[in-house]
Amino acid sequence: MLVAGIDIGSITTEALLFEKDKGILSYTIMQTGADSRRTARIALEKVLAYPKKTLNDISFIVATGCGRKRADFAHQAVTEITCIAKGINYVFEDVRTVIDIGGQDTKVIRIDEKGRVIEFEMNDKCAAGTGRFLEVMAHALNVDIDKIGDLSLKHKKEISISSICTVFAESEVISLVSEGEELEDILYGIHKAIADRTVGLINRLGGIQREVAMAGGVAKNIGVVKALEDTLGVEIKIYMEPQIIGALGAALIALETVS
Ligand SMILES: Nc1ncnc2c1ncn2[C@@H]1O[C@H](COP(=O)(O)OP(=O)(O)OP(=O)(O)O)[C@@H](O)[C@H]1O
Ligand SMILES: [Mg+2]
Repeated sequence: MLVAGIDIGSITTEALLFEKDKGILSYTIMQTGADSRRTARIALEKVLAYPKKTLNDISFIVATGCGRKRADFAHQAVTEITCIAKGINYVFEDVRTVIDIGGQDTKVIRIDEKGRVIEFEMNDKCAAGTGRFLEVMAHALNVDIDKIGDLSLKHKKEISISSICTVFAESEVISLVSEGEELEDILYGIHKAIADRTVGLINRLGGIQREVAMAGGVAKNIGVVKALEDTLGVEIKIYMEPQIIGALGAALIALETVS
């Protein structure tokens, strides 16, 4: 039995094929871009190509992410919170708190041993302290997004960024550069600010419950992961491809629906 999950996020779209008894057959990660409907179709074609399958081979497709309604080929749309919980439970059974930082949302989800959502907290609809915020900061500092985490680990000084509003923080960062502050120290301040904001969401859920995992693209940023681990005093588990957790959860829900 073959099923598919598709996660149409504000920045990236992931598609994933899952076969009962075999597990993940293929997956892809693409930039969502302006035409998310088209991106969703291309992502699905990509995951079908390598295992030489066709749309007719798929029994059920679940779409998730903020653009889930754009996947016109999907049989069902499920919220990202539910899918992330399902996906994490499949890869890390003992996890009870999931932190997902994507392009525009930060979500903290408390889950049970079956991967069901107990409760969750989310940031308001604003890019402050999310992946998009990190992209704007990386651009302002002229560093690639996949390098900022490692660089921040080399900091020697603790600089604090007073605002995590993308607009204010960008000008704050630019003035720090002109004041002669080191790049590594500024990046540390940016990552620490994101960690503090995420801890605020965790506290609204009554604190951390172990084990803890991170999903979403920002889990690939070691600077944010380390800052969170240091602030929370726990080790954070990260799947080898944290960006596909939502699509994986969607595929698992598809499988449950048809099994
Ligand atoms: N290789 C990488 N290194 C560091 N950070 C990365 C890397 N790849 C992606 N990111 C970060 O992940 C963010 C995108 O995350 P993700 O793909 O989970 O977003 P999304 O699902 O589209 O957004 P949302 O769920 O909020 O709608 C980027 O803005 C960037 O900050
Ligand atoms: Mg997402």
